[in-house]
Amino acid sequence: MNYQEAYDYLAAHQQTHLLQFYDTLSRPQQESLLSQIDDLRLDRPQFQEHGASAQKRGTFAPLEAMTLDEIAENRTHYCEIGLCAIREKKVGAVLLAGGQGSRLGFSHPKGMYNIGKTRDLYIFECLIQNLLRVMEQAGASVPLFIMTSLDNDTETRAFLKAHNYFDYPADDIRFFLQETEPAVDENGKILMQAPDKLVLTPNGNGGWFSSIQRAGLLQEIVAIGIEWLNVFAVDNVLQQIADPVFLGATIDSSCVSGGKVVSKAVPDERVGVLCLEDGKPSIVEYFEMTEEMRTRRCVDGSLAYRFGVILNYLFRTDALMHTLESDFPLHAAHKKIPYMASDGTLVQPEKPNAYKFETLVLDMIHMQESCLAFEVDRSKEFAPVKNAEGVDSVATAQALLAQNGVQL
Ligand code: UTP
Repeated sequence: MNYQEAYDYLAAHQQTHLLQFYDTLSRPQQESLLSQIDDLRLDRPQFQEHGASAQKRGTFAPLEAMTLDEIAENRTHYCEIGLCAIREKKVGAVLLAGGQGSRLGFSHPKGMYNIGKTRDLYIFECLIQNLLRVMEQAGASVPLFIMTSLDNDTETRAFLKAHNYFDYPADDIRFFLQETEPAVDENGKILMQAPDKLVLTPNGNGGWFSSIQRAGLLQEIVAIGIEWLNVFAVDNVLQQIADPVFLGATIDSSCVSGGKVVSKAVPDERVGVLCLEDGKPSIVEYFEMTEEMRTRRCVDGSLAYRFGVILNYLFRTDALMHTLESDFPLHAAHKKIPYMASDGTLVQPEKPNAYKFETLVLDMIHMQESCLAFEVDRSKEFAPVKNAEGVDSVATAQALLAQNGVQL
């Protein structure tokens, strides 16, 4: 893209201010700025109207899960199927570690957080240890794909290398960068952080599969013959990854995806719920549920919409290919985002001043024909580290780790 093409494109979207400092830039800076502009996709309506990002939802209905009792009955059978898939190299794991962790207020990648009390125990270490246990059980390795963002890539790689990947075979680890979206002010104008740099923020965890493709790793996944990808969040320190029982149950069910779920503790718990939307699997966010949905009960007294997701999904690789062509809903989040004003000074806002845009992995579930909701015991598998204190904090996760026999 040359200057004139960039100007015309930006003029069509009322964003020519991005070229305001162009004449003052060196040649390489000019090229870098033009390339950032070339990567923008401003034709999506969310950039003009933030409300457009609110999804139009269909008709919801509850979705039954495979319950803890049913799983216990068939545990050995499912476990065998899962271990067999791992041994046949049909399973890969995808760690979503590109988030900004703003609620935790830790200025490094979240996985570097040391959750130990009397010894060092990093979040990355907890996750890798859990995966290593499965590899030992299977007697085979699981390729691990780690998604980072532009902001935390270098630090994440250096940290894991310095800790010898917590004994994970380095040859089985691949890093890939997630893509970005421009942040806009309240008038829809894209923010700049320097005369040659737009404010680009991580595009949410829904971009993981397209980012894998963009990084050239999809060919490798196909070449190895990986049929199932287990996608999981960095911040659940009890996360069971490549869980053979979950894998076996999903394969046995013939569903093309699976989601680990926990029974909601109370109707108002702030978790997304796995359900049906217009007959297809979907996740309804807690703030999208009506009072009637939140409190509806089954004949046995249990909540009808009770299966909350914990960001641990299985996707069949072939059933993901079509998502590369799909337009994901883009969710706008109102945030405090530092920027460069038109006079060139840097501004550190005191309150939310801008919108960043994210796609969400949960929207991928609705792009699947079927999904097995697989119930797990929250006290054994769900210890999220989201906040500095209070609910889902370091203290609650430490207590759950201790309860599960992990020395802290
Ligand atoms: P969260 O939704 O908790 O976001 O991420 P976050 O950025 O980590 O934390 P806050 O909201 O700023 O406090 C859920 C999972 O998705 C990953 C996170 O790393 C975490 O594993 N994620 C999130 C990404 O990989 N990329 C993103 O752009 C956002």
